[in-house]
Amino acid sequence: MKNSPLTCDNSRVTAARSELRDVRGEYGIDGGSAAIAYLLTGVAAGLVLTGFGLIHARSGYLVLRFFELFGGLALILNVVNYLFFTRIGKFVVWAELLDNLPFEGDERVLDMGCGRGAVLGMVAKLLPRGRAVGLDLWRSQDQSGNSLEAAWQNLDKECVRDRCDLQTGDMSAMPFPDSVFDLVVSSLAIHNIESPQSRLQAIDEAVRVLRPGGRLLIADLMRTKEYARRLRELGMEGIVERRLDWRFWLGTLGIAGLVTAAKSSHPKSSS
Ligand SMILES: C[S@@+](CC[C@H](N)C(=O)[O-])C[C@H]1O[C@@H](n2cnc3c(N)ncnc32)[C@H](O)[C@@H]1O
Repeated sequence: MKNSPLTCDNSRVTAARSELRDVRGEYGIDGGSAAIAYLLTGVAAGLVLTGFGLIHARSGYLVLRFFELFGGLALILNVVNYLFFTRIGKFVVWAELLDNLPFEGDERVLDMGCGRGAVLGMVAKLLPRGRAVGLDLWRSQDQSGNSLEAAWQNLDKECVRDRCDLQTGDMSAMPFPDSVFDLVVSSLAIHNIESPQSRLQAIDEAVRVLRPGGRLLIADLMRTKEYARRLRELGMEGIVERRLDWRFWLGTLGIAGLVTAAKSSHPKSSS
């Protein structure tokens, strides 16, 4: 990921796909202060365990040494993996996901729980004649430095402000009419809704605002099977749920997943 000078050359930005990996904004740390506390605790516990493992390297029980050394290293690796994921990995994964989608450039796209605009800014680069809309409650416990202003600043840095709208609102009761978006994306956001019923309402809302034939992509932690089940109940088509990989934190262990689906072009009539 390279840092370019902060000038907005629109002919360059509309070169779109090659711009996806050129992230210029500042997107904080997912999980906010809880994640920062988790990371610091992980490093401290990892160093202490590894230290004990080294002290006991020539003595003590083999099982204890193994637990100390490998446990300590695993904790430290997990912290490094989380930092990589939140600062680099999720951008690389989303760049690949978006790069694999067909875009005409005039679509309307919604990012549910856009936060500081990481995915919103990327998708907007693919929409020279379209619109990218971000919806969020700007909860700082979910992303460090999260705010409406921070999102606008990042959209400026990515040179896509003129094709974006930001709205404050709850994704389980979205302030949009039915069938207005060609694509709905959501990154690391829906699992933050604590009530299981409201999480399902967020899925219902994503489907409601999609136009017939529109597509949905959700990358999230822990809950993607739950989303896929709901999408099946709602009659969505081509539903695929799969693990993401180590670039999306513990994706390899099944902690992070992706759900993709399409809304039928011929919705069943309610009569
Ligand atoms: C971990 S951040 C991810 C932000 C962004 N999608 C990204 O990948 O960088 C989760 C976001 O979900 C938002 N959020 C949580 N609950 C929400 C809700 N009910 N409605 C709208 N946004 C919500 C938070 O404010 C936060 O910005």
